[in-house]
Amino acid sequence: MLEASRKVATIYVKDREGADHVLEIEVGASLMEPLRELNGGAIEALCGGMCSCATCHVFISTEWANKVPSPGDDELELLEGTECFDEGQSRLCCQVTMTDELNGMQLTIAPEE
Ligand code: FES
Repeated sequence: MLEASRKVATIYVKDREGADHVLEIEVGASLMEPLRELNGGAIEALCGGMCSCATCHVFISTEWANKVPSPGDDELELLEGTECFDEGQSRLCCQVTMTDELNGMQLTIAPEE
């Protein structure tokens, strides 16, 4: 049986230098790996997606933020401890999974802390 072709969706990313990038991300995959690979490390993601470091902090643009499922308690606790926490936009990208509904989403990499 043939494997179904993989679906991808597009996100638009502004990095810490203000440069814009277009990324194709597999639906069902975390945003973390593609963002860690961008520019050889647009995010650090030091814990590898274990929701324990907050070095994968991004700001999801307001028109998209409510399409992303709400953060869990662990994620919210880490985010609230960051200097630049924005209640409406802050997310840990390792906890965000790409979906069809997020196709076209815009986000900005949070400043390094
Ligand atoms: S990679 Fe560490 S919290 Fe997301």
